[in-house]
Amino acid sequence: MKVAMIGAGYVGLVSGACFAEFGTDVHIVDTDASKIEALRAGRMPIYEPGLERLVEENARDGRLSFTTDLKAAVRGADAVFLAVGTPTRRGDGHADLTYVFAAAEQVALAADKPLVLITKSTVPVGTGRQVKAIVRAARPDLAIEVASNPEFLREGNAIGDFMRPDRVVVGVDSDRALAVLKRLYRPLYLIETPVLATSIETAELIKYASNAFLAVKITFINQMADLCEKTGANVHDVARGMGLDGRIGRKFLHAGPGYGGSCFPKDTLALARTAQEMGVPATLVEQTIAANDARKAQMAERVIAACGGSVAGKTIAVLGLTFKPETDDMRDAPSLVILPALVAAGATLRAYDPQPAHARQMLPAAVQFADSAMDAVRDADALVLITEWNEFRAIPPEKLKAAMAGRVIVDLRNVWDPVAMREQGLDYSSIGRGE
Ligand code: NAD
Ligand code: UGA
Repeated sequence: MKVAMIGAGYVGLVSGACFAEFGTDVHIVDTDASKIEALRAGRMPIYEPGLERLVEENARDGRLSFTTDLKAAVRGADAVFLAVGTPTRRGDGHADLTYVFAAAEQVALAADKPLVLITKSTVPVGTGRQVKAIVRAARPDLAIEVASNPEFLREGNAIGDFMRPDRVVVGVDSDRALAVLKRLYRPLYLIETPVLATSIETAELIKYASNAFLAVKITFINQMADLCEKTGANVHDVARGMGLDGRIGRKFLHAGPGYGGSCFPKDTLALARTAQEMGVPATLVEQTIAANDARKAQMAERVIAACGGSVAGKTIAVLGLTFKPETDDMRDAPSLVILPALVAAGATLRAYDPQPAHARQMLPAAVQFADSAMDAVRDADALVLITEWNEFRAIPPEKLKAAMAGRVIVDLRNVWDPVAMREQGLDYSSIGRGE
């Protein structure tokens, strides 16, 4: 079976490499020639643990290749996945489907035999129908089936999530599309992964509903963390006590600076817009978006308050900039709100992130970059931890105390032990731990 994957981003690259690992012949296409060139040379355009090895092995074994030539990749393909971006459309918050529609038409025009066109990009409910119309108009002569196969992988754990997912969702309206998807995911049937076959519309909505639900869950625990701070309760114990109830579940109850990333912010916004337009506003999702936006801004105020009401003229060390650990992705990262606010308030910022490539481009030029966590911390008046990379957990409080000029530490991910910090005489605050 030959597969073409349109888009060599976080999703296209990971899913393409994983399908190749499953034994399929995969051709990954991107319009960005520099990405394709890098991939051909064995260099990954993104940081994702395990990806380099997976790509290298499958490319070497001839199951995975990279090209800018969409026509060549689609020729002879049995299945073509769309894994192009669906960013927020400027002005109205909807998903921008320009890339999806353009790619769908290009695929249809390039097809030389019947194939199944599968949308892996996250697209609003109803998009499949529009893709079908585009494909029919471009190629009335050819049987091109359309399907939806939303992707649930997380960055930083993407390969594990793809290879051992909780479920696979396939939205289909033809036996042929279902048969092709079943074949592609055959290795997952062997590990008894539930494969849920639904209508295309249902599959599209499952994706948005899942992301929005997780965003609501995080926002809920963040608000409980605020209440913990006012009342002396501990949000870790609250989350554990809630999470042990199987109906609630333990995951996604870590309080923090607000969710970021390439998907929760844009997908909650797009879902809210769709629901508004359908006349059934998803008010809970709308509230979640507003609360999360406000929270990111409040985090800068929290740092300023911890520094005694002003950060003007102070040097602040910042650890962790990406929206979560084990990725280089900065899209909608809380640091993009917190750092500019601190710069505007007059602070000098010295930041460190293990994967700073995108952070360097996206943060204000005034932010200085250090080569290690301890280089950032040295002689700082205050320290703020925004992203919980594992290497930060291992830094002992006495080392921080010895290196810093000041005593203020604001830990927005609760990675350090408050008791150990206070034993060192550090002025430590974290999220929802009753201080
Ligand atoms: P991305 O921006 O990293 O990658 C998209 C790629 O598509 C880019 O490299 C771009 O150059 C390429 N592209 C655009 N139009 C093209 C065309 N016509 N032909 C060839 N290449 C083209 O995006 P991403 O993060 O991989 O996300 C892709 C989709 O998957 C989005 O809808 C997103 O919501 C969804 N998704 C993302 C994640 C994630 O963790 N990032 C997880 C699940 C779902
Ligand atoms: C998320 C979903 O988890 C994936 O299932 C989905 O496929 C993906 O979005 C997508 O559609 O793109 P991702 O954004 O990569 O994955 O990362 P998450 O681990 O979900 O984290 C998102 C944000 O929520 C991060 O900023 C993280 O720090 C925050 N978060 C997560 C919390 O603040 N608390 C938690 O308990 C969990």
